[in-house]
Amino acid sequence: MCGIVGYIGLGHDSDGNSFNHSAYDVLLEGLRRQEYRGYDSAGVAVIGDSGVEYRKKAGKLINLANEVEANPLPTSNIGIGHTRWATHGGPTDANAHPHVVDNGRLAVVHNGIIENFAEIRSELLEEGVEFISETDTEVAANLIASIYNKLDTKDLTEAVRVASNRMEGAFTILAIHEDAKDRVVATRRNSPLVIGLGNNENFLGSDVSGFIDYTKSAVEMGQDQIVTITATDYSIIDFDGNPAEGKPYTIEWDAAAAEKGGYPSFMEKEIHEQPAAVRDTLMGRFDENGNLTLDELKIDDSTLRSIDKIIVVACGTAAYAGHVARYAIEHWCRIPTEVELAHEFRYRDPIVNEKTLVVSLSQSGETMDTLMAVRHAQEQGAKVVSICNTTGSTLPRESDAALYTHAGPEIAVASTKAFLSQIAAAYLLGLYLAQLRGNMYKDEIQQVLSELQAMPEKIQELLDNEQQIKDLGASMKDAPSVLFLGRHVGYPVALEGALKLKEIAYLHAEGFAAGELKHGPIALIEEGQPVFVIVPSPRGRDSLHSKVVSNIQEIRARGAVTLVIAEEGDEAVKPYADHLITTPQCPTLLQPLLATVPLQIFACSLAGAKGLDVDQPRNLAKSVTVE
Ligand code: F6R
Repeated sequence: MCGIVGYIGLGHDSDGNSFNHSAYDVLLEGLRRQEYRGYDSAGVAVIGDSGVEYRKKAGKLINLANEVEANPLPTSNIGIGHTRWATHGGPTDANAHPHVVDNGRLAVVHNGIIENFAEIRSELLEEGVEFISETDTEVAANLIASIYNKLDTKDLTEAVRVASNRMEGAFTILAIHEDAKDRVVATRRNSPLVIGLGNNENFLGSDVSGFIDYTKSAVEMGQDQIVTITATDYSIIDFDGNPAEGKPYTIEWDAAAAEKGGYPSFMEKEIHEQPAAVRDTLMGRFDENGNLTLDELKIDDSTLRSIDKIIVVACGTAAYAGHVARYAIEHWCRIPTEVELAHEFRYRDPIVNEKTLVVSLSQSGETMDTLMAVRHAQEQGAKVVSICNTTGSTLPRESDAALYTHAGPEIAVASTKAFLSQIAAAYLLGLYLAQLRGNMYKDEIQQVLSELQAMPEKIQELLDNEQQIKDLGASMKDAPSVLFLGRHVGYPVALEGALKLKEIAYLHAEGFAAGELKHGPIALIEEGQPVFVIVPSPRGRDSLHSKVVSNIQEIRARGAVTLVIAEEGDEAVKPYADHLITTPQCPTLLQPLLATVPLQIFACSLAGAKGLDVDQPRNLAKSVTVE
């Protein structure tokens, strides 16, 4: 949700030779990599010899690049950039960031929402400030300018600090001032910001992709902190002005991991990275005796043994991963497990106490709804484990323990490999709790673990045979709606299949628990209605399999075109499948790791056939950092 980049380098030496990078090049590259966070408009500001200069354009980043080509910016060693997902004000040139105020002397970019902006705006209007946009960001920029101009010291860091205490809500703000060409100042409250450390140059980004081309050395910041970067140093203070420490870390993935690598889209690349994502998530979790060890899980064993309830909080696809995990965790650990959409969780006055383990699932680690749910749970005394894909992000940092998925950067807005690796990580957590609490014998745990470890190869097998599904997707590009049915773990898979179609193909799609069909949704079935059915293994509980086979017959009898996902060797479904997609055999609980993949490929192919941009679907953004 909005990508932010800041840069400062040493620029020119005393002889006028330039070294380091041009600010605009760094900013544009950083924005290109962060465009998945928002793509309604983009802009940059740099400080040249004659002060702050900026360019901004509505639409995708290419519009900004074209604008700068037509109307070049001065060479500079300092600047800030922004790619926007609109909250206040529509996606227009005027509402794009940066906002440049105070007679063109101060430029600001902002991610988040300033909740008390109306109040601050009216105070500034009384001071005689004029506004040209509808945004809360322009209010923030003018607030900083107003404070700066009243300070005897004319200290930009201090102006940002005072302004930060005045603003409520969630924000990351970067500011540059023409009188302070040696620094970029940034503040954060409930919104992401990381520092990148280079050689005689330093960076700021909403995430590390903002500067991954230039350095692997990053620093994590805490909440309510302000950082000032110069070309050679950085310093952090809290909102009271006290010095604060950042947490340095090394970025594990390289720039190539965030490129398309020969695939037409990031989504396709990420679908194909799923065997590795699951494999890497499972890797290194066992000691020499074959026991499961989760080194990151820093909650003591006695606390974990005393847990009497688990609540999974997450949003969207991550919440569906939680639904899948619930079946496994309850089965293995016998701990009552609830799954709650994070944004609903705290409004229903949930029963949470010291014996509750809250598990957050998040690819980005920055989803504001999930973060707020976690904070609420912690206030009630619960321990929180965050399953997350992004090192240094807010959720794992604020949790009692983190369990990282190792899926690598997920750039496409629609989540794919994060989903599979979240399931794998949640299963590891479930097995670990079962091991610790003695719910399962060691050999039972070993059995599940070795089945889990066999999954990457089976996912690969599916991917090797993807053409059938691609063709099916393309052939259904004119379908007005697609329905998805599943039971047990197949139910959240159905929900996920429908979500993928909605978000990237803009197609009406619904997922249902297959048993719910006759309680209403079956009325939707008419001649030619495509319906995906996720069939559980016939080798599992017979009642489950046979009930789903009956459901297929019921909808087919009413004219549905059935797209059946079933295990290899499942003869019973064949007579009722208009299109049969077979998956390698695996235990029922692991089936989502396979059955989801054809649904991702189907959605991607159908959206592609409609000529849509699967990586950057309309109205969406990766990492939803506002509530
Ligand atoms: C759907 C999708 C979203 C995210 C949700 C949570 O494809 O990507 O539904 O799953 O916004 O995001 P994270 O996992 O970053 O918390």
